[in-house]
Amino acid sequence: MYSLLFAVLKRLDPEVTHHWGMVIIRLAGLPGIRRLLRKRYAPNPSLAVRALRQDFGSPIGLAAGFDKNAVAVRGFYALGFDHVEVGTVTALAQPGNPKPRLFRLPADRALINRMGFNNDGAEIVATRLAALRHWGGDLPVIGVNIGKSRAADIAGATADYVTSATLLAPHADYLVVNVSSPNTPGLRGLQEVSSLKPLLQAVQAAARETPLLVKISPDLDDQAVTDIAQVVNDLDLAGIIATNTTVSRENLTTRASSVAEMGEGGLSGAPVREASLRVLALLRQTLPRDKAVISVGGIFDGQDVKERLDAGASLVQAYTGFVYRGPAFAGLLTRELRDVLSGVSLRA
Ligand SMILES: Cc1cc2nc3c(=O)[nH]c(=O)nc-3n(C[C@H](O)[C@H](O)[C@H](O)COP(=O)(O)O)c2cc1C
Repeated sequence: MYSLLFAVLKRLDPEVTHHWGMVIIRLAGLPGIRRLLRKRYAPNPSLAVRALRQDFGSPIGLAAGFDKNAVAVRGFYALGFDHVEVGTVTALAQPGNPKPRLFRLPADRALINRMGFNNDGAEIVATRLAALRHWGGDLPVIGVNIGKSRAADIAGATADYVTSATLLAPHADYLVVNVSSPNTPGLRGLQEVSSLKPLLQAVQAAARETPLLVKISPDLDDQAVTDIAQVVNDLDLAGIIATNTTVSRENLTTRASSVAEMGEGGLSGAPVREASLRVLALLRQTLPRDKAVISVGGIFDGQDVKERLDAGASLVQAYTGFVYRGPAFAGLLTRELRDVLSGVSLRA
């Protein structure tokens, strides 16, 4: 019944599927249901890791963008994600870009999106997170990813991020400054060290004790990646999330005309894997082990997770893999990771 439902959902418009998927995941977070599911999907204790000054039941988390408004955190935890990054949240609530804005490329195990930070705004999400903490019970590590409101111009970006950080940091186990989405005009320019350093300094002051990370693009050249790692060292931030989606459309199997019809947006999934690994390796050359690197981009199975951990990732996240492999994804990843760590090869 579970797989039948999933098969039906996969045939619908991707955003409609996302909506109904979220309804089901919220149901998975209801008290009796979540206890049963967690029993089934909780990672083996041997996978526990420590990062960002806290304990994680496994290195596997949900990447930003799936639960933008923190409405299904308990459901994702029940399904086996040990950390959930909510957001991107912006200071002002906003509807995002016009639809259609999300496309599947099954031949490439990829997605293209230009969602444009559709979200309920920092105040509402902060209230939701406060309620989650208030009601207690088992929760994953909760990261909060913040971005620039579309209505704020680039000159006003710092003040806009600081508003979000002030509202959200008290409810977050870690905070992420997202300067790498391709879907907000001018945003990725904030990755330039001359803009990034003062921005991160201001957000760091607002975040107080909450560990602060910055999320970067896979499209940066080697020097830019190393420069950002240096900024993280200089400011003594907690780490880096690498990577967001790419604007590249190279090496796709999907027909070029179909890809062109989908239009602009960030490409995620298998085609980002190489770039994400490249950035991870570069970061680890500059960042000491006490700085976290959360690796994301093209993770589909336990072998992928092991590859990232071997390359120096502290934690990993996935989004597109969850879309293609279905609701049991995190449980499958943790089981597969355990198998590959104990010497059972997943791939021929
Ligand atoms: C539909 C969609 C929406 C996304 N929204 C966000 C977002 O709001 N903020 C963010 O930092 N990343 C966002 N991402 C990027 C993912 O968090 C992740 O970095 C990227 O998709 C690469 O991982 P993957 O290959 O496992 O999907 C989004 C990705 C997708 C597919």
